Order: sequence, then C-alpha cells, then structure tokens
Amino acid sequence: MLNCNKEDIAIIHNTAEGMNLISHGLNLKNSDEILLLENEYPSNVYPWEHWALKGIIIKTIPMSNSPDIFLENVKKAITNKTKVITVSAVHCCTGMPLPIKDIAEICNYKNIEFIIDGAQGAGHIDIDMTILFLTIIVVGFNLFNIFSLYPSFKDVVFF
Ligand SMILES: Cc1ncc(COP(=O)(O)O)c(C=O)c1O
Repeated sequence: MLNCNKEDIAIIHNTAEGMNLISHGLNLKNSDEILLLENEYPSNVYPWEHWALKGIIIKTIPMSNSPDIFLENVKKAITNKTKVITVSAVHCCTGMPLPIKDIAEICNYKNIEFIIDGAQGAGHIDIDMTILFLTIIVVGFNLFNIFSLYPSFKDVVFF
C-alpha cells in the first residue's frame, strides 16, 4: 500500500498520536517556520501548536481546488526558515488529493521535513514511499495504525 520496508513501520494507536509523536520529536529552534494546510483536519493542527510557545512561526498554506495553484501556494509560502511542511494526503474538507509527490520533491531539494497525514489518503491514492524522499507518513486504520518513515528514523528523536 505504501511500498515501504517493514523496518520503516512503527505501530501506533492512531493518526493523531503519530502526529504528536513526530511533532514532539523534532528539533526546531527559535524563528524556524512550520507550514500547515488551510482548513486542515484538527489532529494535524493541534500537535504543532506547542511550537508557537517556543518561538516557532506557524503559517498556513492557502488551499485551492487546483493542485497546480496549490503547489504555487506552497512555493510562495516557503522561506529560508521553513523547516517543516505537513499536509493531509487528501484534504478533509474538499476531498482533493494534494500533490504530495511534487511537495516532497521541493522539500527534498530544500531540506525541509515533509510530514503527511495519510488518514484519508492511504489506500485511496497512490503513495509510494520510495519516491517521496525523506517523507514521514502517518496513517490511521480501523484496526491498526502505523507511521512509516522513509528511509529511517534518523531525523526524529523520541522522548
Ligand atoms: C485527515 C485526517 N487526519 C486525521 C484523522 C484522525 O485519525 P485518527 O482517528 O486515526 O487519529 C482523520 C479522521 O477522519 C482525518 O480525516
């Protein structure tokens, strides 16, 4: 389903827990920026808010019904302080699949952590971890939940 190695999968309780684990495990510093999706599902908003208390800037990428325009919005929102971009693979309000492969390419080029909420995307749209570079995807299922890090856990510290 995700075309990843079993070593890159961790079992978790749900998507919200996975996002919290990842957010709390990142090492960000004052004036770094996080980009969230406009009208994002709340469990991919609240896990990031604790960073605002530490001086991290949280911005939202304007949503668009056009993947191309959305991608332009992503490019415009990125600054040299952007350290994290996180979006749902499928937008919870509109049902539009986000251009995650294109965003992953930009993030790989600019050394930005790209974290995908795959709750509504995995199993519905093509998600191939081998072509998503350093992406982390968090997926909630009815019976089991995983988050898969490709290629390894090296960018995230758990405590
Ligand atoms: C985009 C999105 N993210 C996260 C969730 C929450 O998933 P979980 O219950 O696994 O935390 C949902 C639930 O519908 C969702 O649609």
